[in-house]
Amino acid sequence: LQPFDEARCRIVEQHAPAVVSFHFGLPSPDLVARVKATGAKLVSSATTVAEALYLESRGCDAVIAQGLEAGGHRGMFLTDDVLSQTGTMALVPQIVDAVDLPVIATGGIADGRGIVAALALGASAVQLGTAFLHAEETTISEAYKAGLRQAGDRQTAVTNVYSGRPTRCLTNRMMLEKGPLTGAAPAFPKGFAITGPLRQQAEAQGSSDFSAHYCGQSAALGKPTTAGQLVRDIAHDARQQMNRFT
Ligand SMILES: Cc1cc2nc3c(=O)[nH]c(=O)nc-3n(C[C@H](O)[C@H](O)[C@H](O)COP(=O)(O)O)c2cc1C
Repeated sequence: LQPFDEARCRIVEQHAPAVVSFHFGLPSPDLVARVKATGAKLVSSATTVAEALYLESRGCDAVIAQGLEAGGHRGMFLTDDVLSQTGTMALVPQIVDAVDLPVIATGGIADGRGIVAALALGASAVQLGTAFLHAEETTISEAYKAGLRQAGDRQTAVTNVYSGRPTRCLTNRMMLEKGPLTGAAPAFPKGFAITGPLRQQAEAQGSSDFSAHYCGQSAALGKPTTAGQLVRDIAHDARQQMNRFT
């Protein structure tokens, strides 16, 4: 994992993508200005109102409001206090009220009900992560997929034992024995290099005890299908849910 630097900025300038999405805040103002000069729409994740205001003041075109339920790394960058994290239901309307930008709700949304709820909270769009892990196209291991299928509503936790930054994963031995949160975790992203060999050895023996299987709290709502079908199904589901209110 490398920070967004001069070389990576040149790649963006070369390919001029329509949208550039950053995580853990934004790069330096000069790099942000260069990305914006390509015409790209700029988005990044906020886990608090303060982070959303920061992103707005530095030129973001939309803010992703990432709730505590989300799988994978927290996008948090103005604080490292996981205890300050807010769930999607409470976070989205507060960010919607605070910024004058479209808000993309994310964290725990996996079907039409979640989409309609996010729109009712004032979101302009939603972002789904965990729901797509069930898709046929994913290249995650069979053990990872089995973990997702078995995950109920209590099988994930936020941990920093794998990368050094808090990330929501399927709970496993490493997280329970060393964390899930520990002050002894190496600084991000050094943890990957340190825990990597342990993970490889364990996985070679068929064990997921040391694997960071990123997963949000909505894993149990997911269904095995293709990514395209998933999008069509949840869009259809959202429209039907919407009809309940009209
Ligand atoms: C396997 C996995 C990998 C992720 N990788 C990234 C990433 O590289 N960059 C990022 O901004 N967010 C990443 N996320 C977080 C998602 O963008 C999103 O915030 C989150 O998945 C939404 O919550 P949900 O998992 O409950 O749908 C990842 C999430 C998962 C589950």
